[in-house]
Amino acid sequence: MSPQQKALFLPRKQGNFELGSRSIPSPEAGQLLVKIQCAALNPVDYKIKDAGIIVTDYPAVLGTDIAGIVEEVGEGVENFRKGDRVLAHGKFGNDFTGFQQYTLTDARFTAKIPPSESFDSAATVPVGLDTAVVGLYGNDFGAGVTPPWTTSAGGHESKKPIVILGGSSSVGSYVIQLAHLSGFYPIIATASSSNEGLVRDYGATHFFDRNLSGKQLKAAIGKITDSPIGIVYDAISLPETQSVAWELLANNGTLVLTLFALVKEDEGKGRKVILTFGDAQAPQNQELCGSSWAVVEKWLSEGTIQPNKYEVLPNGLDGILGGLERLKLGQVSWNEVGCSPSGNIVNA
Ligand SMILES: NC(=O)c1ccc[n+]([C@@H]2O[C@H](COP(=O)([O-])OP(=O)(O)OC[C@H]3O[C@@H](n4cnc5c(N)ncnc54)[C@H](OP(=O)(O)O)[C@@H]3O)[C@@H](O)[C@H]2O)c1
Repeated sequence: MSPQQKALFLPRKQGNFELGSRSIPSPEAGQLLVKIQCAALNPVDYKIKDAGIIVTDYPAVLGTDIAGIVEEVGEGVENFRKGDRVLAHGKFGNDFTGFQQYTLTDARFTAKIPPSESFDSAATVPVGLDTAVVGLYGNDFGAGVTPPWTTSAGGHESKKPIVILGGSSSVGSYVIQLAHLSGFYPIIATASSSNEGLVRDYGATHFFDRNLSGKQLKAAIGKITDSPIGIVYDAISLPETQSVAWELLANNGTLVLTLFALVKEDEGKGRKVILTFGDAQAPQNQELCGSSWAVVEKWLSEGTIQPNKYEVLPNGLDGILGGLERLKLGQVSWNEVGCSPSGNIVNA
């Protein structure tokens, strides 16, 4: 029998999670086998369980935020070797997910973890960062801003304002940091007032309480800048934040959403609405995300990108259930989610 590992299965569509075992896959060309030390949780994981979206093959293993140790290197992979500490963006498909002891990763969307970061902090990065990267810089699923890491000049969005709704969410925190890297100014973000310090620390130049109405926010922003608001990134994309975003967005501006649009593109004002898709593996995203993953280790070691704050959940794979429930109930503030530490996930 091939070597086995523990995994947390969703046995059927909208079923209940249960622990089981499955074989450890072998890496093909361009892939790594990673011994998982930490898997972070995302809202999509409980949405798949509750609403039966995205995943079509069951039993399914979920979790796409991965940190661990390279165990085996597939053919043609030159920049990683056995024993490297890495973070990676998984994909739905049981050999490529995080709620188990071992996973395959695509070397293009894997980066080394610098010594300054732990497995737990690194695991909070992949999904949120890719969603921010694609939403800001993607041509198909984003606002089409020029990625600053692909030009020597950088900072070319200087003096253009950007508004980020949900600046303390995982996605929102990375959008703020990338907006800073791109040179947007002012960077205006909303969150609960208790998270003002955190959001400013990520690089927001101006902060507003998320409970302000669209009219109140518009008036407040009008005191900061005369420039039209050409991009609003609504990281939350609930009905109430979408209507605030729509109120703020200038003619010909772009609204980036993380959930389905409830507002309608209006030809008269030329405003665009884009539902982003933070999947690095999507054909439209591969080139962009490949280029950003190539600098993730540098960003983390230089502090250009700070991982999310996080809480380590106890009980390894079992701890994921309670963590997802807390995410669903909105009981996790200041962004990230839980992490299941290696000791529990991998070697319990
Ligand atoms: N389309 C895609 O490819 C894609 C990819 C990733 C995520 N998503 C979706 O994007 C959304 C955000 O994901 P995430 O992982 O960033 O979430 P998260 O980190 O779990 O977000 C939690 C934060 O959301 C904030 N929040 C909740 N309601 C809010 C509101 N009405 N206004 C402003 N902030 C609010 C809270 O901030 P405070 O504590 O400060 O109030 C909370 O800390 C989710 O719906 C997720 O499913 C989509």
